[in-house]
Amino acid sequence: MRTALISDIHGNLDALQVVLADVDRRGVDEIVCLGDIVGYGPNPIECVDLVAERCAWSLMGNHDFAVLYEPTNFNVVAKDAAHWTRDVLEEAVEQDPASGNRRLDFLNRIKTRQLHEKLYTCVHGSVRKPINEYLFDEDIRDDPAKVRRIFEMIDQRCLVGHTHVPGVFIHTEEDGPDFMRPSSLGHEDPDDPALIGVHVFDPDEKAIVNPGSVGQPRDQDDRASYAILETGDDAPHRVNFYRLQYDITAVAEKIYAIDRLDDWLGDRLFQGR
Ligand SMILES: [Fe+2]
Repeated sequence: MRTALISDIHGNLDALQVVLADVDRRGVDEIVCLGDIVGYGPNPIECVDLVAERCAWSLMGNHDFAVLYEPTNFNVVAKDAAHWTRDVLEEAVEQDPASGNRRLDFLNRIKTRQLHEKLYTCVHGSVRKPINEYLFDEDIRDDPAKVRRIFEMIDQRCLVGHTHVPGVFIHTEEDGPDFMRPSSLGHEDPDDPALIGVHVFDPDEKAIVNPGSVGQPRDQDDRASYAILETGDDAPHRVNFYRLQYDITAVAEKIYAIDRLDDWLGDRLFQGR
């Protein structure tokens, strides 16, 4: 089974369309979204509708939660963006009640946790705090107790988003935890420049996979990020990481044109942070 993992779209329709076109070209059995469809970006409605149409399911991210309920621990820029997004979704209901309410129903039904292929626990943040907790690679050094606890709570595999940084956390009894960025994983194919790394899972390791962010990457690489997970009984499971260029200028200009979205939300897309 081939599953495209997308996450942290953040209302960036241009990036989402480029990723979905790449997914379609490669072919998958299904697409799943690990949360944060909205927040920050200028096209929340179109992104919710595309995810509802194309994904088997999506998870509740902290920005989806903020728009539906209330922002928690948000800075001013993020809070303003959440309130603007909520207003846009509500105005859409007034303009077209049928499609507007269908969209809100979809958002209201998304879960905080899903089990994929009986093995992969999927959450937006962490298994301990599914919506809000970040798991950073620095935590391995700075907060080993947190990393240990999170791995203890995982049977074997976990899929997360939230940090906007792609990679694989692994944990073995022998070596403890480690984090690998896609570019350090190898398996680059010169004929496929979008493929930047492949991780083949070892049966003895626990692993937490983050496909990175479609709409607001934060690893100093401005390209949209996603992954394809390959599972099945015949071969070791693996995850392929991809990066794709999209028209950042077009998205930034849409952001600059919306008063209630801070210009920084456009600027940061160019910097991948
Ligand atoms: Fe996010």
